[in-house]
Amino acid sequence: MGDQYEVSEAGVEALTIPSLRWEEPPEGPVLVILDQTRLPAEEVELVCTDVPALVGAIRTLAVRGAPLLGIAGAYGVALAAARGFDVEEAVEALAQARPTAVNLGYGVRRAAASYREAFGEGGAQAAAAAALAEARAVHAEDIEASTRMAEHGLALLGELLPGGGHRILTHCNTGALVSGGEGTALAVALAAHRAGELRRLWVDETRPLLQGARLTAYEAARTGMAYTVLSDGAAGSLFAAGEVDAVLIGADRIAADGAVANKVGSYPLAVLARYHHVPFVVVAPTSTVDLETKEGADIEVEQRPGREVTEFSLPFVQEPGAEAGTGIPVAPLGAQAYNPAFDVTPAELVTAIVTEAGVVSPVTREGLAEVCSTSRWS
Ligand code: MRU
Repeated sequence: MGDQYEVSEAGVEALTIPSLRWEEPPEGPVLVILDQTRLPAEEVELVCTDVPALVGAIRTLAVRGAPLLGIAGAYGVALAAARGFDVEEAVEALAQARPTAVNLGYGVRRAAASYREAFGEGGAQAAAAAALAEARAVHAEDIEASTRMAEHGLALLGELLPGGGHRILTHCNTGALVSGGEGTALAVALAAHRAGELRRLWVDETRPLLQGARLTAYEAARTGMAYTVLSDGAAGSLFAAGEVDAVLIGADRIAADGAVANKVGSYPLAVLARYHHVPFVVVAPTSTVDLETKEGADIEVEQRPGREVTEFSLPFVQEPGAEAGTGIPVAPLGAQAYNPAFDVTPAELVTAIVTEAGVVSPVTREGLAEVCSTSRWS
């Protein structure tokens, strides 16, 4: 892997992890993905030459996180078009690879729409070029959105927590690994770090697939910010000790009523935050807001294989169809497991939603619709 460090203008390392890139070697275009199931132990790249490989990478979480899924989905359509595969079949397979993160369908639909429009006018080659251009646009917009969210989020932290010295708790993984830029919630924490206002980032390990311990800590370590990993169950005592000033998380889908689907374990943090009078802030681009989904109860929550809870394995995520019993058992063989990948936090527990187009606070249907209508990409 290349050098992952750059010194930003502020003199603090910028987080630039090449989580995904389009390449055009002589054998044909490919999508190169940093395999997140191997991190932090190994930095291994997967080279996707076809759509089934990319769908597999999405299902096993080699490529993951809402914004990056949108980018990957768009490039997936471009890959199918460039390699002469059945694009409509690819659109279907990619959009259905995971159900909760709305960005996946968003990216796929955008690239597919550009493909179809150009096909009518200029045929297959023009359509393939249009799909790739659209994927690149989705990618570039995500980079810009990340920068804007960091700015809005930093300003909001200043209002909510005057005086700096923030101790921020985060859950799952929301940094450069899930984005073309520096991410969503982690981008805000990084902005606070650069401004000298972050005292500590508390990193929930995020059971069962450890996106916090493996991935957020991997990112945080590269930025020089003070961070501490904790087991998810330790968050309560941390709040009780007065050690958390704000919770910052991302989102996989935000319904029209402001309910937020995010990694399982987010909702308990929102309840804790309310009890302890701590702001609970969600950072997500407007592409994660799904105004078609009227309320939180309508959000489809992905159910993952039980063995992710009952076994430890390397790489961290197995193919959904893989046989049980291949990892290290942490429960008796055959134990039943409940393994929703996400939970839904009602709007009333969310202090603010930070988007690239502005901040929604209090979180209302009207406020959310308004910020989406002012988004450049609405
Ligand atoms: O199952 P994952 O790892 O794809 O879940 C990711 C999350 O829940 C993230 O918190 C969410 O996508 C926000 S990322 C900017």
